[in-house]
Amino acid sequence: MSAPRVQTVKLPYAPRRAFLPFHRRTQRWACLVAHRRAGKTVAAVNDLIRAAITAQRPHAHYAYVAPYRSQAKSVAWDYLKRFAAPATAGVNEAELLLTTRNGSKIQLFGADNADAMRGLGFDGVYLDEYGDFRPSVWGNVIRPTLSDKQGWAVIGGTPKGRNQFYEAFDAAQRSPDWFCLRLPASASGILPPTELHALRAQLTQDQYDQEYECSFEAAILGAFYGVEMREASDAGRIGRVPHDPDRPVFTAWDIGYRDDTAIWFYQVAGGEVHLIDYHASSGSTVADLAEVVAGKPFRYARHHLPHDARAKTLASGGRSVVEQLAALLGGIGKFQIVADLGVQDGIQAARLVLPR
Ligand SMILES: Nc1ncnc2c1ncn2[C@@H]1O[C@H](COP(=O)(O)OP(=O)(O)OP(=O)(O)O)[C@@H](O)[C@H]1O
Ligand SMILES: [Mg+2]
Repeated sequence: MSAPRVQTVKLPYAPRRAFLPFHRRTQRWACLVAHRRAGKTVAAVNDLIRAAITAQRPHAHYAYVAPYRSQAKSVAWDYLKRFAAPATAGVNEAELLLTTRNGSKIQLFGADNADAMRGLGFDGVYLDEYGDFRPSVWGNVIRPTLSDKQGWAVIGGTPKGRNQFYEAFDAAQRSPDWFCLRLPASASGILPPTELHALRAQLTQDQYDQEYECSFEAAILGAFYGVEMREASDAGRIGRVPHDPDRPVFTAWDIGYRDDTAIWFYQVAGGEVHLIDYHASSGSTVADLAEVVAGKPFRYARHHLPHDARAKTLASGGRSVVEQLAALLGGIGKFQIVADLGVQDGIQAARLVLPR
């Protein structure tokens, strides 16, 4: 047998110090949460290039996936061609596919067109801006592409609220099978303090916290309770809250006609409000919902319903939602229709309750 041919290739990439632990990881799975402009995409592309040119297996195949294919092309394609240039054998512009001199392939995809990945098996994938992915793409398409070659995956991006990216990050932090790196701008040392200062002056606190401090709690623009939820999180008030069987349970309902019906279950202990359970479903009948509530091991004091629960509907023989529920859940005395505050006052009321 002839000895393997060894080639030396020098890539035009000097990793930023903050990303060295990422490049040195040994776990199969990794989560990389970093602030805007930290260099995530450059680090990811170079991580893929190194994997491709050092692959032991012939015809190894690696994928970079952005939320949209057009985005993959505009943000990563130039980086890929530039950084891989010394090791490139060929480039296919139509397929966004680069072949390295040792015969590995690196290809760009979009989660918007995830089915293009079906039928392929990857040695490694990087999912960029994972907070913008449709949550089903990982389980339906991407994870199965890694099975036959036992490929690795990196989930990366900047936070976008408590979505599937947060769930991956949360799991990664607690699992030895995952490498996890979170790089807020205050710690990464990448952007100069003058720029951070200027950003603080121009962005809202929530925007700054999300985009530069990697906060999953900061409100995405349009979310209402970001500040209150961040304070709750910082104070350790979000976690498993046990049911106290010695105290009664209250419920608060939002009845959805076209969207979800939501039910919160809570107990009041001293000055605190303990939110112990939650149910949401769409398309449920009043009887279904009553069954959910009755099926919990709780002793109820009162159910709070919104004002529209009083409206009588033809479909239910002229009976209102509150009348139907009262018949199923122990009498009208247990029900209270809450005042209709209007949207703004309602949001304000929730803001006043969240600190408790
Ligand atoms: N190792 C590096 N050496 C030199 N420049 C770098 C390096 N990494 C990133 N950069 C530069 O920093 C800038 C941001 O890089 P990149 O696009 O990878 O950041 P990002 O974290 O993906 O940003 P965004 O949040 O916008 O997606 C680019 O101008 C890039 O060329
Ligand atoms: Mg990027």
